[in-house]
Amino acid sequence: MKVLVTGSSGLIGSEAVEHFDRQGHEVFGVDNNMRRVFFGPAGDTLWNLERLKGTAKRFTHAAIDIRDRAAIEELFRAQRFDLIVHCAGQPSHDKAREIPLLDFEVNALGTVNLLEMTRQHCPDAVFVFLSTNKVYGDAPNEIPMKELETRYDYARPEDYDGVAETCRIDRSLHSLFGASKAAGDLVAQEYGRYFNMKVGVFRGGCLTGPSHSGVELHGFLSYLVKVTLTGGRYTVYGYKGKQVRDNIHSYDVVRAIEEFAANPRAGEVYNLGGGRENNVSMLEAIARIEGLTGRKLDWQYVDEARKGDHICYISNLRKFQTHYPKWTITHSMDAILKEMVASQRTHRAHSTVS
Ligand SMILES: NC(=O)c1ccc[n+]([C@@H]2O[C@H](COP(=O)([O-])OP(=O)(O)OC[C@H]3O[C@@H](n4cnc5c(N)ncnc54)[C@H](O)[C@@H]3O)[C@@H](O)[C@H]2O)c1
Repeated sequence: MKVLVTGSSGLIGSEAVEHFDRQGHEVFGVDNNMRRVFFGPAGDTLWNLERLKGTAKRFTHAAIDIRDRAAIEELFRAQRFDLIVHCAGQPSHDKAREIPLLDFEVNALGTVNLLEMTRQHCPDAVFVFLSTNKVYGDAPNEIPMKELETRYDYARPEDYDGVAETCRIDRSLHSLFGASKAAGDLVAQEYGRYFNMKVGVFRGGCLTGPSHSGVELHGFLSYLVKVTLTGGRYTVYGYKGKQVRDNIHSYDVVRAIEEFAANPRAGEVYNLGGGRENNVSMLEAIARIEGLTGRKLDWQYVDEARKGDHICYISNLRKFQTHYPKWTITHSMDAILKEMVASQRTHRAHSTVS
C-alpha cells in the first residue's frame, strides 16, 4: 500500500509511520512542524522526524501545510494513495481561544482539503480522521457522577462502560477546538455517507505514548511525567484533581486504524480511548508517577476547571470492538506510564549531552 500520514512527526502520526513502514508499505509523511508554532520550542517535533528518518525504511517526508490546497493537490496528483491517516491538527482545547482562525483553518479546512483531494484523486482509498471526544462538548458532564476519595466516577451501573457514540454533539460547550474538530468530524462523515467513501472517524480520549512532545496545553500524561522528572510546578485546574481521563497508547490507536483499513466502512464513527481498563484521575496519575520516578511533584491547585472540561470521561469501546473483534487494548495504564518515564529519561539524557 501507499500510505499518506498527515501530522507524521506528531504522537499518532509517527506511530502510524513506523507501524505501516514495518509492515512493508510505502509511507509518505506530511508535517510542517506547526506544533512548534502552537506551543513554542517545547512543542518542536523535529527530533521525532529525525528519529523516523533514521528508523523507517520507505518513508518520504514533505513539510507541507495541510491548509495549502495547491501543495496538497500536487502531492495527490503525484501519488495515488491507498490509505490516508489524517492526524495533523491543532490539538489543544485551551490554545484555540488565542488562535480561533488558525485553529479552524487547520482542523476544519485542512480536513476538507484532504477529503476533497482523496475524492478527486483516489476515491477508493481508506481515509481515517483523528477526531476527539471534545466534539461532545461538555454533554458527558450531564451523566450522573459520584465523588470518591481520589476520583469522580459514573453513578449509574448503565454508564459504567463509558460514553458511547450516541452522545449528542451539539447544544453543549465545546471550546473552539472542540467546535473546529466537530466541523472536521462531520464533513469527514459526510464524505463517507454522501459519496460512499471509506471514511472512518475516531473520537479520541487521551492519546498518549513515548513520542509525544508534551507541553502544558496538550499531552497531559507526557507533560506530567516531564515536570515530575525535571522539576518546575504543575497546575491542576478544578474538580479537586478528581477529573478522570481514559488513556490509550499510540500503538493501540494505530492498530485500530489498521483494523479499520483492512475492513473499512463508509462514514463510521468510533470512540477510541483507554476505556474502563485504562482510566485514571489527576490525583491518581500524580501518585502513580511519583511512585514510578521516586520524585515528588511540585503542584498547585487552581479552583477553576478549564472551560468545557470533562469531569469524568471514559470511552465506551463496545462499538469498535463489535465491528473489529480482533482489536484489544495491549498497553495497560502502568505499562504506558513506565514506558513514558523511561523514554523521557532517555530523551533528557540525550538533550543534556548534546
Ligand atoms: N493526543 C491526544 O490526546 C488527542 C486526543 C484526541 C484527539 N487527538 C487528535 O489526534 C490527532 C493527532 O494528535 P497528536 O497527539 O498526535 O498531536 P501532535 O500535535 O503530536 O501531532 C500533530 C502533528 O500535526 C502537525 N501539524 C499541525 N498543523 C499542521 C498543518 N497545518 N500542516 C501540516 N502538519 C501540521 C504538527 O506539527 C504535529 O506534528 C490530532 O488531530 C488531535 O486533535 C489527539
